[in-house]
Amino acid sequence: PEGRVAVLPVIDSTNQYLMDRIATLSSGDACVAEYQGQGRGRRGRHWFSPFGANLYLSLYWRLEQGPAAAIGLSLVIGIIMAEVLQRLGAQDVRVKWPNDLYLHDRKLAGILVEISGKAGDAAHVVIGAGINLSMREPVNAVIDQGWINLQEAGIKIDRNDLAASLIKELRQAMPVFERDGFAAFHQRWQVLDNYYNRPVKLLIGDREIKGIAHGIDMQGALLLEQDNTVKAYLGGEISLRGL
Ligand code: BTN
Repeated sequence: PEGRVAVLPVIDSTNQYLMDRIATLSSGDACVAEYQGQGRGRRGRHWFSPFGANLYLSLYWRLEQGPAAAIGLSLVIGIIMAEVLQRLGAQDVRVKWPNDLYLHDRKLAGILVEISGKAGDAAHVVIGAGINLSMREPVNAVIDQGWINLQEAGIKIDRNDLAASLIKELRQAMPVFERDGFAAFHQRWQVLDNYYNRPVKLLIGDREIKGIAHGIDMQGALLLEQDNTVKAYLGGEISLRGL
Protein backbone atom coordinates (compact mmCIF):
# COMPACT_ATOMS: atom_id res chain seq x y z
CA PRO A 1 0.00 0.00 0.00
CA GLU A 2 1.16 3.47 -0.86
CA GLY A 3 0.29 7.02 -0.03
CA ARG A 4 1.65 10.46 0.61
CA VAL A 5 3.27 11.67 3.82
CA ALA A 6 3.17 15.39 4.65
CA VAL A 7 5.94 16.50 7.01
CA LEU A 8 4.81 19.64 8.81
CA PRO A 9 6.81 21.84 11.16
CA VAL A 10 4.02 23.51 13.13
CA ILE A 11 0.33 22.65 12.99
CA ASP A 12 -2.75 22.88 15.21
CA SER A 13 -3.36 19.14 15.15
CA THR A 14 -2.27 16.47 12.68
CA ASN A 15 -5.73 14.88 12.96
CA GLN A 16 -7.33 18.23 12.14
CA TYR A 17 -4.92 18.75 9.24
CA LEU A 18 -6.17 15.55 7.59
CA MET A 19 -9.83 16.19 8.48
CA ASP A 20 -9.64 19.59 6.80
CA ARG A 21 -8.46 17.90 3.59
CA ILE A 22 -10.59 14.78 3.60
CA ALA A 23 -12.01 15.30 0.11
CA THR A 24 -8.50 15.28 -1.35
CA LEU A 25 -7.12 12.25 0.50
CA SER A 26 -6.69 8.60 -0.42
CA SER A 27 -6.43 5.73 2.03
CA GLY A 28 -2.91 5.54 3.40
CA ASP A 29 -2.13 9.27 3.21
CA ALA A 30 -0.43 10.42 6.38
CA CYS A 31 1.17 13.40 8.06
CA VAL A 32 3.60 14.02 10.87
CA ALA A 33 4.41 17.26 12.69
CA GLU A 34 7.17 18.64 14.90
CA TYR A 35 4.75 20.61 17.05
CA GLN A 36 0.99 20.79 17.64
CA GLY A 37 -0.58 23.91 19.09
CA GLN A 38 -3.96 22.23 19.63
CA GLY A 39 -3.07 18.56 19.98
CA ARG A 40 -6.20 16.60 20.76
CA GLY A 41 -6.57 13.78 23.24
CA ARG A 42 -9.58 11.60 23.91
CA ARG A 43 -12.62 13.04 25.72
CA GLY A 44 -11.83 16.53 24.54
CA ARG A 45 -8.57 16.66 26.46
CA HIS A 46 -5.49 18.54 25.32
CA TRP A 47 -2.52 16.50 24.07
CA PHE A 48 0.64 18.26 25.16
CA SER A 49 2.83 18.43 22.03
CA PRO A 50 6.18 20.16 22.58
CA PHE A 51 8.40 20.94 19.57
CA GLY A 52 10.68 18.20 18.30
CA ALA A 53 10.33 16.01 21.38
CA ASN A 54 7.77 13.41 20.34
CA LEU A 55 6.05 11.80 17.40
CA TYR A 56 2.70 13.22 16.29
CA LEU A 57 1.32 11.17 13.43
CA SER A 58 -2.00 10.84 11.65
CA LEU A 59 -3.14 8.51 8.89
CA TYR A 60 -6.27 8.63 6.76
CA TRP A 61 -8.37 5.64 5.69
CA ARG A 62 -11.66 5.40 3.85
CA LEU A 63 -13.78 2.56 5.23
CA GLU A 64 -16.13 1.57 2.44
CA GLN A 65 -18.41 -0.34 4.80
CA GLY A 66 -19.25 2.75 6.84
CA PRO A 67 -18.72 3.91 10.42
CA ALA A 68 -20.03 0.72 12.05
CA ALA A 69 -17.12 -1.17 10.50
CA ALA A 70 -14.72 0.82 12.68
CA ILE A 71 -15.59 -1.10 15.86
CA GLY A 72 -12.40 -2.45 17.35
CA LEU A 73 -10.22 -0.32 15.10
CA SER A 74 -8.48 1.58 17.89
CA LEU A 75 -7.54 -1.73 19.53
CA VAL A 76 -6.00 -2.88 16.25
CA ILE A 77 -4.02 0.36 16.01
CA GLY A 78 -2.72 -0.24 19.54
CA ILE A 79 -1.65 -3.78 18.67
CA ILE A 80 0.18 -2.67 15.51
CA MET A 81 1.91 0.21 17.30
CA ALA A 82 2.99 -1.96 20.24
CA GLU A 83 4.39 -4.62 17.91
CA VAL A 84 6.31 -2.02 15.89
CA LEU A 85 7.77 -0.45 19.05
CA GLN A 86 8.75 -3.86 20.41
CA ARG A 87 10.43 -4.81 17.15
CA LEU A 88 12.43 -1.55 17.13
CA GLY A 89 13.73 -2.20 20.64
CA ALA A 90 11.07 -1.25 23.18
CA GLN A 91 10.36 -4.85 24.19
CA ASP A 92 8.40 -3.92 27.30
CA VAL A 93 5.75 -1.84 25.54
CA ARG A 94 2.22 -3.05 26.31
CA VAL A 95 -1.33 -2.10 25.39
CA LYS A 96 -3.85 -0.72 27.83
CA TRP A 97 -7.52 -1.13 26.97
CA PRO A 98 -9.01 0.55 25.07
CA ASN A 99 -6.27 2.53 23.35
CA ASP A 100 -3.11 3.53 25.14
CA LEU A 101 0.40 2.17 25.01
CA TYR A 102 2.10 1.62 28.33
CA LEU A 103 5.69 1.13 29.35
CA HIS A 104 6.57 0.18 32.93
CA ASP A 105 2.98 0.92 33.99
CA ARG A 106 3.09 4.45 32.66
CA LYS A 107 1.56 5.98 29.56
CA LEU A 108 3.91 6.08 26.57
CA ALA A 109 1.46 6.83 23.78
CA GLY A 110 -2.14 7.68 23.07
CA ILE A 111 -4.39 6.90 20.12
CA LEU A 112 -7.28 9.04 18.91
CA VAL A 113 -9.45 7.69 16.08
CA GLU A 114 -11.85 10.24 14.62
CA ILE A 115 -14.57 9.20 12.21
CA SER A 116 -16.81 11.23 9.95
CA GLY A 117 -19.32 10.40 7.24
CA LYS A 118 -23.04 9.77 6.89
CA ALA A 119 -24.69 6.52 7.87
CA GLY A 120 -24.95 4.36 4.78
CA ASP A 121 -21.91 6.03 3.21
CA ALA A 122 -18.24 5.22 3.40
CA ALA A 123 -16.61 6.44 6.62
CA HIS A 124 -13.63 8.76 6.69
CA VAL A 125 -11.29 7.61 9.40
CA VAL A 126 -8.41 9.64 10.80
CA ILE A 127 -6.07 7.65 13.02
CA GLY A 128 -3.93 9.81 15.30
CA ALA A 129 -1.04 8.64 17.42
CA GLY A 130 1.13 10.57 19.84
CA ILE A 131 4.23 8.80 21.14
CA ASN A 132 6.45 10.27 23.84
CA LEU A 133 10.08 10.14 22.76
CA SER A 134 12.01 12.71 24.77
CA MET A 135 9.67 15.31 26.21
CA ARG A 136 10.31 16.78 29.64
CA GLU A 137 7.89 17.65 32.39
CA PRO A 138 5.95 20.66 31.09
CA VAL A 139 6.56 23.90 32.98
CA ASN A 140 3.12 25.40 32.52
CA ALA A 141 0.86 22.45 31.91
CA VAL A 142 -0.28 19.45 33.90
CA ILE A 143 -0.39 15.94 32.53
CA ASP A 144 -3.09 14.10 34.45
CA GLN A 145 -1.70 10.56 34.31
CA GLY A 146 1.66 8.98 35.02
CA TRP A 147 3.62 9.12 31.79
CA ILE A 148 6.98 8.04 30.44
CA ASN A 149 9.06 8.60 27.32
CA LEU A 150 11.43 6.28 25.47
CA GLN A 151 14.48 8.35 26.34
CA GLU A 152 14.04 8.11 30.11
CA ALA A 153 13.46 4.36 29.69
CA GLY A 154 16.87 4.22 28.00
CA ILE A 155 15.45 3.20 24.62
CA LYS A 156 16.86 4.77 21.47
CA ILE A 157 14.57 4.61 18.47
CA ASP A 158 15.07 6.91 15.52
CA ARG A 159 11.95 9.03 15.09
CA ASN A 160 11.98 8.75 11.29
CA ASP A 161 12.36 4.96 11.45
CA LEU A 162 9.50 4.80 13.91
CA ALA A 163 7.23 6.99 11.78
CA ALA A 164 8.06 5.06 8.60
CA SER A 165 7.51 1.66 10.23
CA LEU A 166 4.23 2.72 11.79
CA ILE A 167 2.88 4.13 8.55
CA LYS A 168 3.94 1.02 6.64
CA GLU A 169 2.45 -1.43 9.15
CA LEU A 170 -0.79 0.54 9.52
CA ARG A 171 -1.19 0.65 5.74
CA GLN A 172 -0.77 -3.11 5.66
CA ALA A 173 -3.08 -3.83 8.56
CA MET A 174 -6.01 -1.70 7.40
CA PRO A 175 -7.04 -3.85 4.41
CA VAL A 176 -6.89 -6.92 6.68
CA PHE A 177 -9.07 -5.15 9.23
CA GLU A 178 -11.52 -4.09 6.50
CA ARG A 179 -11.81 -7.65 5.22
CA ASP A 180 -11.78 -9.69 8.44
CA GLY A 181 -12.56 -7.18 11.18
CA PHE A 182 -11.20 -7.23 14.71
CA ALA A 183 -11.37 -11.03 14.86
CA ALA A 184 -8.23 -11.22 12.71
CA PHE A 185 -6.23 -9.43 15.42
CA HIS A 186 -7.93 -10.57 18.61
CA GLN A 187 -5.40 -13.22 19.60
CA ARG A 188 -2.47 -10.79 19.34
CA TRP A 189 -3.89 -8.67 22.15
CA GLN A 190 -3.38 -10.97 25.09
CA VAL A 191 0.42 -11.16 25.10
CA LEU A 192 0.57 -7.38 24.80
CA ASP A 193 -2.04 -6.66 27.49
CA ASN A 194 -0.50 -4.66 30.34
CA TYR A 195 -3.24 -5.60 32.80
CA TYR A 196 -3.88 -9.22 31.92
CA ASN A 197 -4.84 -11.05 35.13
CA ARG A 198 -4.17 -7.96 37.20
CA PRO A 199 -6.46 -6.06 39.57
CA VAL A 200 -7.91 -2.93 38.01
CA LYS A 201 -10.74 -0.48 38.43
CA LEU A 202 -13.04 0.82 35.74
CA LEU A 203 -14.31 4.37 35.87
CA ILE A 204 -17.72 4.70 34.23
CA GLY A 205 -19.02 8.19 34.77
CA ASP A 206 -18.85 8.52 38.54
CA ARG A 207 -19.14 4.78 39.10
CA GLU A 208 -16.08 2.77 40.05
CA ILE A 209 -15.91 -0.98 39.49
CA LYS A 210 -13.05 -3.06 40.83
CA GLY A 211 -12.10 -6.49 39.54
CA ILE A 212 -9.50 -8.59 37.77
CA ALA A 213 -8.90 -7.88 34.08
CA HIS A 214 -9.05 -10.91 31.80
CA GLY A 215 -8.27 -9.40 28.43
CA ILE A 216 -10.89 -8.76 25.78
CA ASP A 217 -13.56 -10.67 23.87
CA MET A 218 -14.02 -10.99 20.10
CA GLN A 219 -15.80 -7.62 19.98
CA GLY A 220 -12.97 -5.91 21.81
CA ALA A 221 -14.95 -5.54 25.05
CA LEU A 222 -12.95 -5.64 28.27
CA LEU A 223 -13.53 -8.75 30.36
CA LEU A 224 -13.64 -8.02 34.09
CA GLU A 225 -14.02 -10.61 36.81
CA GLN A 226 -15.95 -9.66 39.92
CA ASP A 227 -17.16 -12.14 42.56
CA ASN A 228 -16.26 -15.07 40.29
CA THR A 229 -18.30 -13.82 37.36
CA VAL A 230 -16.86 -12.31 34.22
CA LYS A 231 -18.65 -9.40 32.57
CA ALA A 232 -17.87 -7.67 29.28
CA TYR A 233 -17.55 -3.89 29.17
CA LEU A 234 -17.70 -2.16 25.82
CA GLY A 235 -17.72 1.55 25.27
CA GLY A 236 -15.70 4.65 24.80
CA GLU A 237 -16.62 6.36 28.04
CA ILE A 238 -14.99 3.80 30.29
CA SER A 239 -11.46 4.21 31.53
CA LEU A 240 -9.26 1.67 33.21
CA ARG A 241 -6.73 2.14 36.00
CA GLY A 242 -4.35 -0.26 37.65
CA LEU A 243 -4.80 -0.84 41.38
C1 BTN B 1 -5.22 10.16 24.12
O1 BTN B 1 -4.57 9.31 24.73
O2 BTN B 1 -6.00 10.92 24.72
C2 BTN B 1 -5.07 10.24 22.62
C3 BTN B 1 -3.95 11.16 22.21
C4 BTN B 1 -3.75 11.27 20.70
C5 BTN B 1 -2.70 12.30 20.33
C6 BTN B 1 -2.36 12.29 18.87
S1 BTN B 1 -0.93 13.26 18.48
C7 BTN B 1 -1.26 13.10 16.77
C8 BTN B 1 -2.77 13.20 16.59
N1 BTN B 1 -3.19 14.58 16.45
C9 BTN B 1 -3.93 15.00 17.49
O3 BTN B 1 -4.39 16.14 17.63
N2 BTN B 1 -4.09 13.99 18.38
C10 BTN B 1 -3.44 12.77 17.92
